[in-house]
Amino acid sequence: MAFTKSALAAIKGPRYLAIIELIQQAMIEGELKENERLPTHRSLAKLLGVTVGTITRAYTEAENKGLVRGEVGRGTYVIPNEFTSPSSLEFLQNTSGKQNYVPSYNDSDSGLNSAGFTYDCTSLAPTSNNGLGLIREALVNSATEEAIDLLFSHSYSQVDDEVRAQFVKLLAMSNIHTSSENLVLTSGAQHALSIIIAGLSEPGDIILTEQLSYPGIQATASRLHRRQVIGIEMDDQGIIPEQLELVCARYKPRFLLTVPNLHNPTGITVPESRREEIVAVARKYDLIIIEDDVYCHLTETPPKAYVSMAPDMTCYVSSMTKSIASGLRTGTIVAPEEYVRRLSATLQSSIWMIAPLMARVNSHLIESGQLPKIFKEERIEIAKRQNLARDIFKDFICSANLEAPYLWLTLPESWTSVEFTEAAQSLDIGVLPSWIFAINKDIAPEAVRITLTGISDINILKQTLESLAELLQ
Ligand SMILES: Cc1ncc(COP(=O)(O)O)c(C=O)c1O
Repeated sequence: MAFTKSALAAIKGPRYLAIIELIQQAMIEGELKENERLPTHRSLAKLLGVTVGTITRAYTEAENKGLVRGEVGRGTYVIPNEFTSPSSLEFLQNTSGKQNYVPSYNDSDSGLNSAGFTYDCTSLAPTSNNGLGLIREALVNSATEEAIDLLFSHSYSQVDDEVRAQFVKLLAMSNIHTSSENLVLTSGAQHALSIIIAGLSEPGDIILTEQLSYPGIQATASRLHRRQVIGIEMDDQGIIPEQLELVCARYKPRFLLTVPNLHNPTGITVPESRREEIVAVARKYDLIIIEDDVYCHLTETPPKAYVSMAPDMTCYVSSMTKSIASGLRTGTIVAPEEYVRRLSATLQSSIWMIAPLMARVNSHLIESGQLPKIFKEERIEIAKRQNLARDIFKDFICSANLEAPYLWLTLPESWTSVEFTEAAQSLDIGVLPSWIFAINKDIAPEAVRITLTGISDINILKQTLESLAELLQ
């Protein structure tokens, strides 16, 4: 037990700082979990043999450090932070001795092609090599004198109007009609989310998101920027508006960060009627909607986007990393003009400017006019894989959208999510357990995400899925 007089006595220095150290230790050892309530001031003072004033000072300082939050009349709660549950990275490093299984820093979804598993059902790289020829051509076309000159310029204007105009065209392919004035170019969707959070929110702001959520959201919002993230309960149409309203009334959050198309990990595409309800709640409570539409090109006929329903209060994020190639790191934010200035300044503070050459390569891809064909081929390939998986897992409960590059498999009662992940790993198959996606880890369902695009040969994918299904029997 971390909170004892002897544990406190063992730490030198001012008592309130020593108490913060005890709190951190309790977090590291799992005695204090994310969102758990700390002991009351009075009871902790008694346990440690100090005054209530010392505890108040320790809790206030811990709050300033972003470790806990005080709620008037309710108590003090643990905020997810670097001392609480291990990050997905640590988890992935620690399981089954798979030390090589290291995703890029805060995103268990990218860069997993190099994962240590022979059969990789974790990676979200696009399947096909459909775009290969086109990418080659775009690289060659980008190597102009003018583009090379750009490498020697140190202008923060980033990219010229022509390139920006191409991105406006790309957005129009997904029915997002905007202009250059509302556009910020970033180094991918993850970077876009990061600069929106850094640029528009303040320390202490609460960000709402789906209770099951792409781990990069937790990584950037709580681990990198130390904002508090609260997960909203979902049903098979996404966030439940009544739950959203309850949380808004109680916590006065400022942001809703949501993935309405092919939600990662469940594959849910939120229907338009549900989106209208969400917008109504967001308006009532003055929320900014951060619409993460990184899968936009994989949805053939997406419902109306939040940015089209409520452009004045939405920051819309997308990129081509999930539809063509993970390395094409140019993302877009569409935002009201008043935010664009702040976001551009934040982008400058983070990386000065996006790599102009990469923006040009993307711009050539758009200009080629071939992208709709490539997006379509990718959708066909994914549907083929989803149908295969549907057949193999027909006796089990899957949330499987034909357009999503992954499926969310609810495990039979005999399995926990972590045990199944470990059993799959012992067959050299990588899948991701539910808690990696859960905002509130205590209510993570017994489920796993199985990605269908990480194994390029469909016959090998079939054998891999059959092995997983056999495990389930
Ligand atoms: C929902 C979601 N948003 C953002 C990203 C990051 O996208 P990018 O590779 O463009 O940074 C991912 C990656 O898996 C994702 O699933």
